[in-house]
Amino acid sequence: MKGVVGASAIAGIGSTGAAAVNTATPPTGSGGGITPFMGIERIDGPAPRGMPIIPVEIDDEGVISGRWPEVKEETVQGQTEYLAEEEIGGITYTSQWFQYCGKQTSPALLPRADQDNRFLSSEETQYEWQSELEADEPLNIEHFDDYEDWGNEIGEDGAGKPAAATWRSDGLEGGDVLNAIVMRSPRIEEAAQEDEFLEAATQDGVFAYLNVCTHFCCVPGFKVSDTAERFEDGNVIYCQCHASVYDPFTILEQSFLSFPQPDDVQLPEEGGGGGGEEEGGDGGGGH
Ligand code: FES
Repeated sequence: MKGVVGASAIAGIGSTGAAAVNTATPPTGSGGGITPFMGIERIDGPAPRGMPIIPVEIDDEGVISGRWPEVKEETVQGQTEYLAEEEIGGITYTSQWFQYCGKQTSPALLPRADQDNRFLSSEETQYEWQSELEADEPLNIEHFDDYEDWGNEIGEDGAGKPAAATWRSDGLEGGDVLNAIVMRSPRIEEAAQEDEFLEAATQDGVFAYLNVCTHFCCVPGFKVSDTAERFEDGNVIYCQCHASVYDPFTILEQSFLSFPQPDDVQLPEEGGGGGGEEEGGDGGGGH
C-alpha cells in the first residue's frame, strides 16, 4: 500500500518549508510566521507544499465536524491576542495552518469566531453522488457507507469516497468561505492504526483537508479529472491551473510561512460570535 504516514515521513519536517518561505515579508497583524502543520503530500507540479489537514470528529448521530482548536488568550506587547491552538496526537494544531491564499482575512479563521464546525455539503461539488443531499446538509458518516468500493470511473475504485464541503463559513461568501474535501478511506483507516496523529485527527477512516492549492490558490480536484490517471493509480488530487499533484493518502508534517490575520477582520455577524467585535490587537507581526 502506498502512502501510509509513518515516523520516517514525519521526520521530513522542514523539507518543504524552505520553498515556501520565499514569499513576501508578512504585513503586520496577529499571529503568522513559520508554521509547522500536518498536510497531505504534494507530489508533482509547482505547488510548494501540501494542503493542510482539518482534524475531524464524529458525534453520536454520525455528524462529521472539523475540530477547532482551543482558544487561548495571550498578551503580546501589552495587547491581548487570541490563539486557537491545541495538541492533537503529539502535534500542535493551530488555526494558522489555514492562513494562506487570502484565507487569513476570513472571519472563519478568527480564533473566537463561533462558527458552525460541521462540514456542510457544498453546492459546488463535482461529485454526482452528492446530488442526493440538500445544499448545506451536514455530512454524516452514513453518507459514506459505500466507501470501500465507491468509484466514479476516474482512478481505481475503493480508495475512498470524497465529498466537497464548506467549513466554518456560515454567513460568509466569496473568498471568505473555507472549502474542504471530506473523505472516508480504507487507506486512512488502516494508516491511523499505526500513527498517533492520524489516530487522533481522523475517525473510522474519515479525514478532511482544506481544498486550496498552495500554488496560486485554485480549487484542485480529487477524482475529477482524467489527467490524474497519469499518476499512480489515478487516486491523486490534480490542480488543473498549473498541474500540481497531491497524494491525499500521505499525510506528513511540513511547514510554511503563514500570514498574520489583519487586525481589522471582524467576527461574523451571523454565527453568534457577537458580531462586530474586533479580534486581536496591534503588533505581533510574525514570530
Ligand atoms: S497548480 Fe497553480 S494554482 Fe494549483
